[in-house]
Amino acid sequence: MADPILTFIHLSDTHIHPDPSYTGSFVDFSSRSSLAAVIAQINALPFPIDFVLHTGDVMNDPERNEDYTVIQDLFASLKMPVYYAVGNHDRPEGIKQVLFGHQVILAGSKRLYYQFEAKGVQVVILDGHLQGTAAGTLDDDQLRWLERLCHDPNDQRPLIVALHQHPILIGTPWIDKIPLTNGEALHQILLSARHRLRGVFYGHIHEQICTVRDGIPYFSVLSCWFQTRTWHGQADPLNDPTHIPGFNLVTLSERDLWVRSYRVPIEEFKRLLKPE
Ligand SMILES: [Fe+2]
Ligand SMILES: [Fe+2]
Repeated sequence: MADPILTFIHLSDTHIHPDPSYTGSFVDFSSRSSLAAVIAQINALPFPIDFVLHTGDVMNDPERNEDYTVIQDLFASLKMPVYYAVGNHDRPEGIKQVLFGHQVILAGSKRLYYQFEAKGVQVVILDGHLQGTAAGTLDDDQLRWLERLCHDPNDQRPLIVALHQHPILIGTPWIDKIPLTNGEALHQILLSARHRLRGVFYGHIHEQICTVRDGIPYFSVLSCWFQTRTWHGQADPLNDPTHIPGFNLVTLSERDLWVRSYRVPIEEFKRLLKPE
C-alpha cells in the first residue's frame, strides 16, 4: 500500500451568522451548532490531519469585517491550520484581516487568491467573489497568475486547486445560474498542469459531486449546515431531507488520491434537532 504524503479535510459552507441562534429558513438548527458537531468529529479522527480546506461561505452575509472573529473562536479547537476561500456570502476583507495567521503567499491585492505548500504539495486557492451576485468570476490578473503557475516547467509538485463556485456546470438549471462564470477559461489553464494536478475542490452547491473533465477531477462537498439534492434537468431547488452535515477526507500518495465522505454521527445530529 502506498504511504500517504498528505491528508486534509475539505469542508465548506459553514454559513455562520452573527446571531448565534440563527437557523435560516431551511432547517431548525443553527449553523453554529452544526459546525460544532463537525469540528468535534474532526477532532476525534484517530490519525493526523495536515490542514483543513474551507471552500467558502464561511459566514452568512455579515455586515462587518470584525464579525469574522467569531470564526476564529469556533475553529479554535482544531489543532491544524484552516485555509479559507471566499464565498459569495463572505466579506473578502473580513477573511483577509482576521483569518490569516499562517504562512501563505497572497498573490493579488484586490482579490484573495494565494498559494501555500504542505508536505511538498502546492495548494492554490482562488477567489471568484463578485459583490452582489451569487455567481463568481475569476479576474484577468488572477487567471494570468494561475497561468504562470501552471506553465512553469520547473515545478513538478503535486497540485491542489480550490475555490468556492462550481467551475463545471452540474446539469441542474437552477444552480447552474450561479456558477463560476469563466470556469471554461479556468479549465483550459488547468489542462496545462494536468500531469501534476490532483484535484479541484469547491463548495457552494451544498452537495457532494465528483465531475471529471478531460481527466481532471472536480470535487464538491456537503455543507457543514444544510444540504441540497440535485439531479440533471431539475427545475426547482430541493433540499436533501436529512440535512446531515458532513465533510470530506482527502488523502494523497505519490500516485493516488482518495476522497472519503464523512457525515456527523446520527446521534449527534439528533441532538442538533432537539437541543437540550
Ligand atoms: Fe453556501
Ligand atoms: Fe455559495
